[in-house]
Amino acid sequence: MARLRTRHIALCAILILGIYFFLPRDNAPSYLPHFSYGPSSRTGTHALAQHMNDPAHIPDITASNSSFDWSSVKFTYSLPQTPLLPPPVAHRPRIQHRFKPDRADVAAVQEQRRLKVKRVFQKSWASYRAMAWMKDALKPISGKYVDQFSGWAATLVDSLDTLWMLGMREEFYEAVEAVAAIDFGKSTSATVNTFETCIRYLGGFIAAYDLSGHPVLLQKAVEVGDLLYAGFNTQNGMPVDFIDFETAKEGTGLRVESQVVSASPGTITLEFSRLSQLTGNNKYYAAVSQVMDLFHENQNATRLPGMWPMMVSMSEKDVTFGYQFTIGGNADSLYEYLPKAHALLGSADPSSKKYEAMSRFFMDTAMNNLFFRPMIPGREDILISGNCDVLQGGPRLDPESEHLSCFIGGLYALAGRLFNSDEYLDVGSKLARGCAYAYKSFPTGIMPERYNMALCPVENHRRGCAWDEAAFAEAAADRPQHKIDLPKGFTTAKDPRYILRPEAIESIFILWRITGDPSWRDTAWDMFQAVAGATDTVYANAAIMDVNAPGGGEKEDYMESFWMAETLKYFYLCFADTDLISLDEFVLNTEAHPFRLSKAKQSFEIKGKDRS
Ligand SMILES: *[C@@H]1O[C@H](CO)[C@@H](O)[C@H](O)[C@H]1NC(C)=O
Ligand SMILES: *[C@@H]1O[C@H](CO)[C@@H](O)[C@H](O)[C@H]1NC(C)=O
Repeated sequence: MARLRTRHIALCAILILGIYFFLPRDNAPSYLPHFSYGPSSRTGTHALAQHMNDPAHIPDITASNSSFDWSSVKFTYSLPQTPLLPPPVAHRPRIQHRFKPDRADVAAVQEQRRLKVKRVFQKSWASYRAMAWMKDALKPISGKYVDQFSGWAATLVDSLDTLWMLGMREEFYEAVEAVAAIDFGKSTSATVNTFETCIRYLGGFIAAYDLSGHPVLLQKAVEVGDLLYAGFNTQNGMPVDFIDFETAKEGTGLRVESQVVSASPGTITLEFSRLSQLTGNNKYYAAVSQVMDLFHENQNATRLPGMWPMMVSMSEKDVTFGYQFTIGGNADSLYEYLPKAHALLGSADPSSKKYEAMSRFFMDTAMNNLFFRPMIPGREDILISGNCDVLQGGPRLDPESEHLSCFIGGLYALAGRLFNSDEYLDVGSKLARGCAYAYKSFPTGIMPERYNMALCPVENHRRGCAWDEAAFAEAAADRPQHKIDLPKGFTTAKDPRYILRPEAIESIFILWRITGDPSWRDTAWDMFQAVAGATDTVYANAAIMDVNAPGGGEKEDYMESFWMAETLKYFYLCFADTDLISLDEFVLNTEAHPFRLSKAKQSFEIKGKDRS
């Protein structure tokens, strides 16, 4: 059956290709069966189909309330109700390049690319819909599923806004009907992961609401937002990392963990601030502001002033004691959210000035201590983000990097525009090129999850140095994981997997939209072909075990929800109309969910341009 299915898809792909060849625009043909709406539906397929291409049409779908009302929890600890959400922003600096229409031949190439990305998404979506509907994730090889994020249909919620952007309106509203029934009063796990729930579920609902304006999505955002808010019912007002589900309902208070990774408490600002903006309820913004004030007050008191250690203690309110510093995994989105909070909250506001100051301080510190130009055989002017340990001897740069760090190039570029700094933009561009370089270097065309490179002599960390075979051999000999068959310049591929991560294409997308330099689109296309090819399975796409092996080696039977929420979305946006999710209208959370930048005197407006 699996084989049949692939052939069927391949046949249709050829047919569709043929049709597209003659059509100037995507008429949304699809190999998917016609959707039939369940008995709970209030919107017949026919009625929906008529309005499907009218972006202003909002089908009549009502949400069922969760079996527990999280807004009714009586908190043992009273939370502060200040600061107040800043007033709407009157002026923001321009972020995106002023694009002119592409020449017809260039536009035709981009259109082909866009449609190819869309077809890969459609295949993953169809399989999720057929085999893992309402489950957290599809297993793309066996066609089974897994619930690892409390069983609230993580992939479904995470994919909502991508469906919208790809113009899959019928599928979008089918998904809205489904999420309308999610019960946040029940969980498949006894504890709920604050971070994942915030970025995937809350972020997913907010973005889908910001794009479509469908009230069901705001209702579900508030339900899961109130669940997360219950995680702040603690003695010192700091959020717990894992919410004990049943205890949280009682309101008797939760115990804050003694040590957590800094990204966990540091990645709530955008979601809670936007939820306050959308609901007019200040409590979310007030709660998260207390957390960020703690980071702010201690930014200059760490072992590497400007940055915070990877591990922090929320129970002790101590964010200074650790010695390991990175902008990669465990810390990443703490940093990501500082410039982005500034973008969301605007620059006239004192708290946003705080986010600007925090952004500049960490960015200058990271430039001076974490980024390096590796020793490579060619002359490419690239930067890689490493790690920094601060022990007795002072800061020591470790040239180890990972796929997760690749978001940083895009973030510097964005900050370059937000804070009017050519230096940040230039550094961001070099960091993004560093990730593209790593992709290109490996035989699959994909970079490993984690790897090491060789440093130049210390005075040349930023300027780079000529290739030195002996020095490289010495650096490689220091690494037990070194393998002889690695691409030149890489001392290890410490973790050689590629698990469908988005961060590299995320930065390429932002650089494209900010600079308008078409070479970024070509880089994106090379990356897409490599990724789509190596990870393809019968049903969808899977993690691969070794980017340094021909074809990527074995595959793992797992497809993270971020594949459709982030990776394919960023690929798609590289080739789509540059007004679709303009960076002047949206700021994206760390799960690639776009939040609308509200302006003073804003009217809710749904762009017709989002049509596929
Ligand atoms: C859902 O909850 C809201 C507020 O808690 C309440 O006003 C409404 O009547 C409830 N709806 C249903 C169908 O129970
Ligand atoms: C951090 O502290 C140092 C030493 O007290 C001071 O010179 C510096 O200006 C401070 N930096 C910031 C950004 O507050």
